[in-house]
Amino acid sequence: MSEYSSKQKRGLWTSRFGFIMASAGSAIGLGNIWKFPYIAGMHGGGAFVLFFIFCIITVGIPIMISEMVIGRHTHKDPVGAFKKIRGGAWVIVGWLGVTAGFVILSYYCVVAGWAVDYLWLALQGTFTAQHAQQVPQLFAGLLSSDLSQLLWQALFMGMTILIVMGGVSSGLELANKVMMPILFFILLFLAIRGIFSPGGEKALTFLFSPQWSKLDPPAMLEALGHAFFSLSLGMGAMLTYGSYADEGTNIPKVAITVSIMDTCVALLSGIAIFSIVFTYGIEPAAGPGLVFKTLPILFSQMPGGTLIAILFFLLLVFAALTSSISLLEVVVAYYCDEKKWGRKKATLFMGFIIFLLGVPSALSNNLLKDVHFIGDRNFLDSIDLLATNYILPLGGLFIAIFTGWILTTRLAKGEIEKGEVRFQLYPAWHFLIKYVSPVLVALVFLNKIGLF
Ligand code: PFF
Repeated sequence: MSEYSSKQKRGLWTSRFGFIMASAGSAIGLGNIWKFPYIAGMHGGGAFVLFFIFCIITVGIPIMISEMVIGRHTHKDPVGAFKKIRGGAWVIVGWLGVTAGFVILSYYCVVAGWAVDYLWLALQGTFTAQHAQQVPQLFAGLLSSDLSQLLWQALFMGMTILIVMGGVSSGLELANKVMMPILFFILLFLAIRGIFSPGGEKALTFLFSPQWSKLDPPAMLEALGHAFFSLSLGMGAMLTYGSYADEGTNIPKVAITVSIMDTCVALLSGIAIFSIVFTYGIEPAAGPGLVFKTLPILFSQMPGGTLIAILFFLLLVFAALTSSISLLEVVVAYYCDEKKWGRKKATLFMGFIIFLLGVPSALSNNLLKDVHFIGDRNFLDSIDLLATNYILPLGGLFIAIFTGWILTTRLAKGEIEKGEVRFQLYPAWHFLIKYVSPVLVALVFLNKIGLF
């Protein structure tokens, strides 16, 4: 088969807009709406936000460009891509990525399942003054029901499978082109509404005025680690999406656009959430329960709370779904490219296996609550820690080293500048990926494993 028709057979984005929406969909997820606001809250706001943006520019964007370049150059899944360019031990980096896809998606579906449950509750009008008594207990109620969690997890995984089974252009691209604009629209509405609410000014001050004294080393490391998770880097998701891009697509432009969109969504979510939090005089550092515990209580107290709750949880579900499909796609691409399975078989079978892998996470707050895996963490928290704090930074480190030290300039620059594309910032990018990104990532990683 000619190279052209084999590329066509694997699937290609139909437009640059489709590629941008899909990559932004992968990046924008629970990390932006659920996690970013509460870690920014815990680490004192403004200075953390500025440092997070610094990490996006010095580490995030360079590594995203690398992943997309490696993907587009090979038109392969992560394992096949490293095999094709260099082979040897580098293939392990691809393996690490596919494994991370299995691991992250297994518990991502559980948390996303909570969001679907909350959307369902919001649609039934649960977050109103009449039910104000029971709202604070809802989250504990959900966590204590293994069956509910399993059902929501299964439903969410089912939706993920259906989209991925549709293929690159009529599954992934179409779903992102529909969900992402709706997501932006809802978020913009919630953020603008937030700015003009009584707590709006305080939220803006909190998010944007830097208190440098609060930016201690753990906060800096948290920001860098989160930049990774938030941009979907270190496990070949952007590599896989890059492999569906055609020659002539301006990769640096796509990577920069996606990174800006991802950062804006995190900031807008912060504005939307903190303006509500400050309007009701709540402490901003409410931790992981901010979205599932604090906000629902506030929804039940505010006028029009039901509509706001529906919009908010729809936003959360869309964000999660556009990310989960990219996680499953990494695994499916591997089985299709390397094992020559059909897409339908790979998606259904692997989707089911990943669902089973997620079962202990779903049971980790009730049936398996006494089973501790890492320290005193339950299964879900342990596996989250393992993936985001260990596997992703390690994968990112290797990808940066591979690009900076193994790929020749001829290959890297040649690939980026295929077609009419000119990359003026090539020297800056090359410097960042060769020296700055690996050192910064190594720093996070060594800190996470407690070496300094
Ligand atoms: N970027 C997603 C988020 O912020 O929720 C999470 C994620 C998706 C991480 C895909 C890694 C990945 F490959």
